[in-house]
Amino acid sequence: MEYNIALIPGDGIGPEIVAEAVKVLDAVAEKYGHTFNYKKFLMGGCSIDVYGESLTDETLEEIKTYDSVLLGAVGGNVGHSNWYEIEPSKRPEAGLLKIRKGLGLFTNMRPALLYDELSGACPIKSELTEGGFDFVIMRELTGGLYFGDRYTKTIDGLRTAVDTLSYNEEEIRRIAKWAFEIARKRGKKVTSVDKANVLDSSRLWREVVHEVHADYQDVELEDMLVDNCAMQIVRDPKQFDVILTENMFGDILSDEASMVTGSIGMLSSASLGATKLGLYEPSHGSAPDIAGKNIANPLATIASAALMLKYSFDMEEESKAIEDAISQVLKDGYRTVDIYTEGTKKTSTTEMGDLVVERLK
Ligand code: IPM
Ligand code: MG
Repeated sequence: MEYNIALIPGDGIGPEIVAEAVKVLDAVAEKYGHTFNYKKFLMGGCSIDVYGESLTDETLEEIKTYDSVLLGAVGGNVGHSNWYEIEPSKRPEAGLLKIRKGLGLFTNMRPALLYDELSGACPIKSELTEGGFDFVIMRELTGGLYFGDRYTKTIDGLRTAVDTLSYNEEEIRRIAKWAFEIARKRGKKVTSVDKANVLDSSRLWREVVHEVHADYQDVELEDMLVDNCAMQIVRDPKQFDVILTENMFGDILSDEASMVTGSIGMLSSASLGATKLGLYEPSHGSAPDIAGKNIANPLATIASAALMLKYSFDMEEESKAIEDAISQVLKDGYRTVDIYTEGTKKTSTTEMGDLVVERLK
C-alpha cells in the first residue's frame, strides 16, 4: 500500500521525536512492503516565525489532500515570547484548534495505559493498580466551549467576558457512536461523563448518549458526573474502559489520566473524524526546556504512529508490531531520562528510535 503522510514536527522537542517515528514507519514500510511518502508542514511557533500565524489557510488546504497527519508538538514560549504577544487567533495553540476543526476531527482518543515495566513510576498506591489499568478517554474535539461564541466587553461599566458552551444532538451522537464502537473492541464499558446536575448541554449529552446506546446493548453504559470522575481516576482507575466526554472536561481529565500512569512521555493520541484522515500526536507538549538535547522520549510519538497505521490505514498487524517493539525495548531495560530508574539503561532519543527499529526487523 502507498500512503501520503503530512508531518508537522512543530516546536520544541517536536522535530526530534517526529524524526524517530519516521524511522520506525520506514522500517514498517520496508518489512511489510508499503510505501510512505512524507512532506513536512509548518505549524505552531515555527510557522509564526515565517508567516506570522500558527497555521496558514494554504497549509491547511494542502494537508487536507493527505492520508494522515503526524504531529510532534506546538508552542512553548521559552525564548519566544513573540509567539504569545500576537492576537490569540494566531498563537501556536490556535493552529491546533484550526487543524482540528478544518479536518473535521471531532473525536480525540487518549489512551491511559499503565505499562507493566513502568508501574514503579505510577504515583498511585500499588494496591490500587495491581495488575495494571488500561482505559481510553474519548474526548469531543470540535465543539463546546472551545468553539462557542466568545467576547469580552464592558457591560454596565464592568469588564465582562463570555464563553459559550453549546452542543447539538448530532455533535453528541457522532462521538458517542465512536465511543461505543471502540468499547466493543475493548472492555465493553462506556462511562459517559457530564455535569448533568447543572448544565443543559450535559443533560442533552446524557439523553443522546442513552439513545445511541440502544444500538449497542452488548456494551455497558454508566453516567458519571465530571467532579466524581476526577476523583475516581485517582481512587480506582481500574474501573474504567472507555470514558466519553465533551471537549473541556476531556481536556482536563486526559491530563489527569496521563499523570496517573506516571509516564506522560509514553502516551499517544489519535484525533479522528468521519473519514480515514486522522491526526496523530503524543499526549505531551513541546518541552522547550529539553529541546535539541537528544534526551526527549520519542515513544509516545512512535506509539501514535502505530495508531495511525491502525485507524487510518487499517494495518492492524503492522500497528501491533510497533506496539510489541516498544514493549520489548522497555522489557530490555532501555529508558529515556523521563522514565529512568536505578538499574535501567539510560537511552537517548535517537538510540530509542533505533532500538524500536531493531526489534521490528
Ligand atoms: C490538548 C491541549 C490543547 C487543548 C491546547 C494546547 C489548546 O491542552 O491538546 O489537550 O486544550 O485541547
Ligand atoms: Mg490539554
